[in-house]
Amino acid sequence: MALRALARVNLAAIERNAARLRAHLKPGAELCAVVKAAASGHGAVPAARAALAGGATWLAVATVGEAAQLREAGLSVPILIMGAISAEELPVALAARADVVGWSDSFVDDLARAAPGNGSVGVHVKLDTGMGRLGTRGLDRAVALAERLTGAATPGLVLAGAMTHFATADGDPEFLAEQLSAFRPFAQRLRDARPGHRLLVHTANSAATLREPASHYDMVRCGIALYGCDPMNRDPDDVELEPAMQLSSYVAAVKRARPGESAGYGRRFIADHDTWIATLPIGYADGIRRALSNNCDVLIGGRRYPLVGTVSMDNVTVDLGPAHREAGDPPAEVEQEAIIIGRSGAERQTVEDVANRLDTVAHEVLCGISARVPRQYHRDAEPVL
Ligand SMILES: Cc1ncc(COP(=O)(O)O)c(C=O)c1O
Repeated sequence: MALRALARVNLAAIERNAARLRAHLKPGAELCAVVKAAASGHGAVPAARAALAGGATWLAVATVGEAAQLREAGLSVPILIMGAISAEELPVALAARADVVGWSDSFVDDLARAAPGNGSVGVHVKLDTGMGRLGTRGLDRAVALAERLTGAATPGLVLAGAMTHFATADGDPEFLAEQLSAFRPFAQRLRDARPGHRLLVHTANSAATLREPASHYDMVRCGIALYGCDPMNRDPDDVELEPAMQLSSYVAAVKRARPGESAGYGRRFIADHDTWIATLPIGYADGIRRALSNNCDVLIGGRRYPLVGTVSMDNVTVDLGPAHREAGDPPAEVEQEAIIIGRSGAERQTVEDVANRLDTVAHEVLCGISARVPRQYHRDAEPVL
């Protein structure tokens, strides 16, 4: 039975991507699977389990709710909440036994008040080396914050990690090198101050993991590469990653368009010759961004066709071309599967292809596949029930 919109997720691909990333790391470095935003649309819990099966040892999320969800599902590995946490949200983070990221005195004050007094809450101090977003600005201030965590005034907290985040790992290698240089003395000072203290040092996202081994330190934090996308928006085959997501719809209607007839809102497609138009019941409410109007392909029966006209909330239209016109048969059948992301025969449209059309990153395309689209899990040919 065709579904109007369906996201099929291959958990075996996530597992193999994790194993590949793991194999690529410097000896001793751990893999943290970044499963925030429902594992970029793949489903946090199944994706986390697959990444752990492939060798990840940590999970990272952005929000306290995401950490709680992983714990509720029975996952017991260390979890790092990377995002900002307000004082109101702290009890949820503590109940999830998650490590948190700190960069300000006020956060450490709130956390020290909320934490039980047995040194159980791990804090990773984040140095802002150039992302200019979250993180302590200034090496001395970051070191001072880390020292507070090891002092008697914060008995409920423990200095667990030192980290930073790169702004251009997927683009400008020179700035990446600058950020690494700015980070190096931070890790060194914290290690020198407490020899023998277990401090987890981590900096790398997927792009840095793939292109800069010096960024691996004790752990890397990979999201997009786990899902089989290349952070540089190149062909994932070139970096031996396997896309885990397929997004499909089906042909719900096929009709002739005569010259001058149009399809979709605003008449942004008007036929200039006899052709056949298929309607697929998937639209921007499912994650097919409206900016893909007249600007995407769809794969049907192993052939590639242009998406034409405006993407509407629940439908898109596709130009099947004039083939079979004389015989009177439409070239694609009603109910036939239509692939927006994935493979059909020898044809393939990757998340990166769609991202490039939208001048965005694979993360945004994947996160945009909305909750309305059912997720169906499989491990290669085996369905996961
Ligand atoms: C702090 C931090 N680390 C790591 C990642 C993982 O990045 P990527 O999905 O590009 O591997 C993210 C995601 O945005 C992040 O915010």
